[in-house]
Amino acid sequence: MGTQFAGRVAIITGGANGIGRAMSLAYAEEGAAVAILDREVEAMNETAEMVRAKGGTVLAIAADLLDRAQIVDGFARIERELGPAYILVNNVGQTARENFSQFYEAKIETLDFVIGVSLQTTLICSRQVVPGMRERGEGKIVSISSDSAINGDIGCVDYAAAKSGVLGFTRALARELAPMRINVNAICPGATKTRAMDRIPKDAYERARNAIPMGELCDPEDIANAAIFLSSDKSRFITGQTLMVNGGRVFY
Ligand SMILES: NC(=O)c1ccc[n+]([C@@H]2O[C@H](COP(=O)([O-])OP(=O)(O)OC[C@H]3O[C@@H](n4cnc5c(N)ncnc54)[C@H](O)[C@@H]3O)[C@@H](O)[C@H]2O)c1
Repeated sequence: MGTQFAGRVAIITGGANGIGRAMSLAYAEEGAAVAILDREVEAMNETAEMVRAKGGTVLAIAADLLDRAQIVDGFARIERELGPAYILVNNVGQTARENFSQFYEAKIETLDFVIGVSLQTTLICSRQVVPGMRERGEGKIVSISSDSAINGDIGCVDYAAAKSGVLGFTRALARELAPMRINVNAICPGATKTRAMDRIPKDAYERARNAIPMGELCDPEDIANAAIFLSSDKSRFITGQTLMVNGGRVFY
């Protein structure tokens, strides 16, 4: 176990599965007390057990982050039970998945859903921690965007719009918080080995892999490592930036 985040609280939204699970484990391994907010209780409890098995501290809170009241309650509970947040990772987000379509036939409810889950959650969760971070004059916010925001992939208009919004949010908030030495950065994962990729047809999966110059999909741990760096003292002078972690598929 590392100690770089000993005594610190790290909040991971959507920390139950995939990239979020890798992050929950990685932050705990670096000594943080980890708070997970997720709506999938079974997977979240499994992740929490994995953290505890490594000797980590974890608070798992069942919450649907599309419900603002649940966000407010969840963050208040974290502060009460673990203490103030030093790190927030805005990881919740997704494409339209089963409602995936080209824009001309997209349902308006699907557009609303994708913007809600992939952008608004980031703003509203961040709003819960920023006042305290400002008062204390410390904190790290890392938000997960996507390389689809930069590449503009077909069938992802809503998702690209939301994830580009995450990048604009990151820059503007970084500028507001730089005088308080609070770092705000974003990561754009490329295609990553999580269930999100398992759901797509085999030929689309092959195409995604073939488009990556390094010849393989990203591991969730690759994204977690980038987040740890952006939360660490080693990145103290990096803010408002977008870090591409995609095996070379898209440059920014
Ligand atoms: N997997 C990829 O290829 C890839 C590529 C680029 C970006 N991303 C981004 O990375 C992040 C994580 O993706 P993943 O592949 O690990 O997905 P995942 O589906 O494996 O995990 C997402 C987690 O978020 C939770 N979640 C979703 N909506 C929620 C809500 N409303 N309230 C509470 N919890 C909710 C889910 O329960 C799940 O535990 C997302 O923002 C995604 O857009 C993923």
